Amino acid sequence: MTNLKANKPSFSLELNVIVLAAGKGTRMSSPLPKVAHPVAGTPMIQRVVRQAKDIGAKEVRVVVGYGEALIRQLVEPLGGICKVQTSQQGTADAVRSAQPQDLTGMVLILNGDHPLITAEDLVGIVKDFEQGSYDVAVVSSILNQPKSYGRIVRSGGELQAIVEAKDASHETLKIQEVNTGIYVARAEVLNQLLPKIKSNNAQGEYYLTDIIELCKQDGGSVGAVKAPKRVSFGVNNQQELAQSTRILYRRKAKQLMDDGVVIVDPANTYIDESVEIGQASVIYPNVMIRGNTKIAPYCVVESSCVISSAQLDEGVIVKAMSHLENCIIRERAELGPYARIRPESEVGKEARIGNFVELKKVKFGEGSKAGHLTYLGDAEIGKNVNIGCGTITCNYAADKKKYRTEIGDGSFIGSDSQFVAPIKIGKNAIIGSGSTITKDVPDNALAVARGKQVVKENYKPSSPSNLKTTSLEN
Ligand code: UD1
Ligand code: CA
Repeated sequence: MTNLKANKPSFSLELNVIVLAAGKGTRMSSPLPKVAHPVAGTPMIQRVVRQAKDIGAKEVRVVVGYGEALIRQLVEPLGGICKVQTSQQGTADAVRSAQPQDLTGMVLILNGDHPLITAEDLVGIVKDFEQGSYDVAVVSSILNQPKSYGRIVRSGGELQAIVEAKDASHETLKIQEVNTGIYVARAEVLNQLLPKIKSNNAQGEYYLTDIIELCKQDGGSVGAVKAPKRVSFGVNNQQELAQSTRILYRRKAKQLMDDGVVIVDPANTYIDESVEIGQASVIYPNVMIRGNTKIAPYCVVESSCVISSAQLDEGVIVKAMSHLENCIIRERAELGPYARIRPESEVGKEARIGNFVELKKVKFGEGSKAGHLTYLGDAEIGKNVNIGCGTITCNYAADKKKYRTEIGDGSFIGSDSQFVAPIKIGKNAIIGSGSTITKDVPDNALAVARGKQVVKENYKPSSPSNLKTTSLEN
C-alpha cells in the first residue's frame, strides 16, 4: 500500500470534498447517528474525513443533520467543516446545503457510510475524472444483485442517466452497473446545475442523480468512472456494520502479513488501520491493537491483550491478558500476564512488570522489576529497583490531590510496603517488608516501619488479661 501521508497525490485541479452525512440511518435501530458508528474502531465519518485529507483535499465539508453536535465533535478536530442541512430533502439538497458556491476546482462527493473505500480508490476515481475531461462523473460498480441501487443507463456505451430503483422500469432494473453514490464534478458546473434539479420523482426528493441528464442537456461532458465493488458498499444496518469491521480487520491483517508480521490467526485479530507493526513481531489471536500504536520489530503480543496508542520498542514481550494504554515500553521489557499499564507511563529497557501490576503515570527504570500484585501511581522508579509483591504507592490523599513517590536506583522494596506520598526514597535503600513509609529515606539506608512482633510463650487465649495484651504492641 502506498503511503499517501508521505506522498500526496498530485491533481491538476484543486480538490474539495463534500461528504453526505445528514441521515439518521433508521435501519441501524440505534439512537447514534449512522455515520458515528465505529467500523474497525473508528467512527465511519472520521475514516472518510481522514481519507479525504490524506489524498490532499483542500476543504472537506460534511453535511450534517441528525446528531449534528456529535458529528461536529468527531469531524472538526480532523479539519472537517460541518454544514447543516435543516430538513432532508434528498441528496441534491444535501449537496446544496454544503454551499459549494465558493468552491473551485474539482468537487468529490462522498457518502459518510461507505467504509470499505480505500484512499487509493479515491485517488483512482479523481485521476479517471481528470483523464476523461468530464464536467460531471458518477462512480459506478458492477453488482450481481444491484437491489435498490440507482442504475447506470447507457446508450451505445455512453452514459445517459441514473435511474433510481424506485423509479425504474422492469427492464432498467436488470442493469447491473449501479451508482455507488459517489460523484466528481467541476465546481462551476456543479453550481450551475444544482439549482436546476427538481423534486418531481417517486419520493418527491431532490435527486443528485438528475445532474447527469441536466449536464448532458447543457452540452456538458458526463461519464461513469468504474470502481471496485467495495466502493459501492454502504452500511445500512448493524449486520453490515459488523461485516465491514470484519473486512477491514482482515485487510489490515493481510497487509501486516505482507509486510512480514507474524499473525497467528488473521481471522481473530483486531488491529486498527492506523497501527504500525515491525517485521518478525508476532501477534497471537484475540489481540486488539488500536489508535496510533507503534510496535517495533521482534515484539511478541500474546493472546487477549488490548493495546491502545502505545509505543513498543524492539523485542518487547507482552504476555497474555495485558492492557496497555498511551504508554511507552522500551527495548526487551517484559509485561504480564495480566499487566495494566495506564497512560503516561514509561517502562524502561529490560524492565519486568509481572502479573496484577498496575502502573499509572510512572517512569519505571531500566532493568527494574515489579513482579506481582502492585500498584504504582504518580511515581518515578529508578534503575535496577526491585519492587516486592504487594507494594502500593498511596498517591491519592484525603485532600483529593495526587502526590508523587520517587524511589532511587538500586533500591530494594520489601513485599507489602506502602509509600505515603509525597515521598522520596534514595538510591540503594532497603525497605523492610510490611512497612508503611511516611518519611523520606536517604541513600543506602534501611527503613522499617511496622509493628514490632510480639511473642507470648505458652499463650492461653482463655485468660482475660491475655486477650487484652494481644491487642497491644507489648
Ligand atoms: C443514493 C443514490 C443511488 C445510489 C445510492 C448508493 C440518489 C437519489 N440516489 O440512494 O442512485 O445507488 O445512493 O448508496 O442520490 N443524505 C443527506 N441528506 C439527504 C439525503 C441523503 O445527507 O437529504 C445522505 C445520507 O445520509 C447518505 C447519502 O446522502 O449518506 C445517500 O443517501 P441515501 O438516502 O442513502 O440515498 P439512497 O437512497 O441510498
Ligand atoms: Ca444509501
